[in-house]
Amino acid sequence: MKILITGATSGIGRQLALDYHGEGHEVWAIGRNQQALSELEAKGIHTGKVDLTDRKNSLEWFASLESLDLAVLSAGTCEYIDLPDFDSELVARVMRHNVESMAVSIQGVLPLLRKGTRPHLVGIGSAAAYLPLHRAEAYGASKAAVAYMMETLRIDLYKEKIDVSLVCPGFVKTPLTDRNDFPMPFRISVEEAGRHIRDGIARRKLEIHFPKRFTCILKMLNFLPRSLLLRLAQRMVRK
Ligand SMILES: NC(=O)c1ccc[n+]([C@@H]2O[C@H](COP(=O)([O-])OP(=O)(O)OC[C@H]3O[C@@H](n4cnc5c(N)ncnc54)[C@H](OP(=O)(O)O)[C@@H]3O)[C@@H](O)[C@H]2O)c1
Repeated sequence: MKILITGATSGIGRQLALDYHGEGHEVWAIGRNQQALSELEAKGIHTGKVDLTDRKNSLEWFASLESLDLAVLSAGTCEYIDLPDFDSELVARVMRHNVESMAVSIQGVLPLLRKGTRPHLVGIGSAAAYLPLHRAEAYGASKAAVAYMMETLRIDLYKEKIDVSLVCPGFVKTPLTDRNDFPMPFRISVEEAGRHIRDGIARRKLEIHFPKRFTCILKMLNFLPRSLLLRLAQRMVRK
């Protein structure tokens, strides 16, 4: 397969790039960190130094490719709100990196996927979007937007036979979560996350969520009445 991965210089995207390359696929890895890109290139992976917040340059770069069978959009960031400062610049930054960058990537890869074989578009969201979580006003909202975008595209790309999957990971050990200063229940290795994602992609699952022992709890909690959910969340915050 011809596979493009954004956010491939670190964490989940990097793992997927290495694994797919190891399986013999032709991989294009996108990121900004030149050293990480050079390391991937030394292994025989095509690379692109692309800042996805730069729409014009990004679209020009995508247009230089011919076709794709699979695009995995993993580029993203995470920042938390710390009240009493509701930092709207932080919100804008998170939206720019997680939502606008995703939109630019989608605009870039769709014409390429239309020329591919059994094309498949995969967006990395987050289990954080299942529930309102402490300090996640910006990150959770950005990932809810990603989920909505991917699920809507699934409807609208159906006629063109482009499959769309949404990935909703729980905590995965990457540089992104290494910054966190709070307990991360059921955090899994990036290798395990890569296996879950590749397995879900191979089976063309609509939603790929893991680890189930964490994501299923969040999904069940979401069925609770909002007042009860609020009391539980408040109790956790007080602890
Ligand atoms: N780790 C988790 O527990 C977890 C859980 C749920 C969801 N996720 C999601 O999974 C995705 C990957 O996360 P991760 O943990 O692997 O994070 P990570 O290790 O911090 O990697 C983030 C990647 O995104 C790239 N990136 C960010 N902004 C970019 C931009 N403007 N243009 C181009 N590339 C950009 C980074 O590139 P450079 O380093 O080259 O700048 C890097 O390759 C994110 O969307 C994240 O929200 C992660």
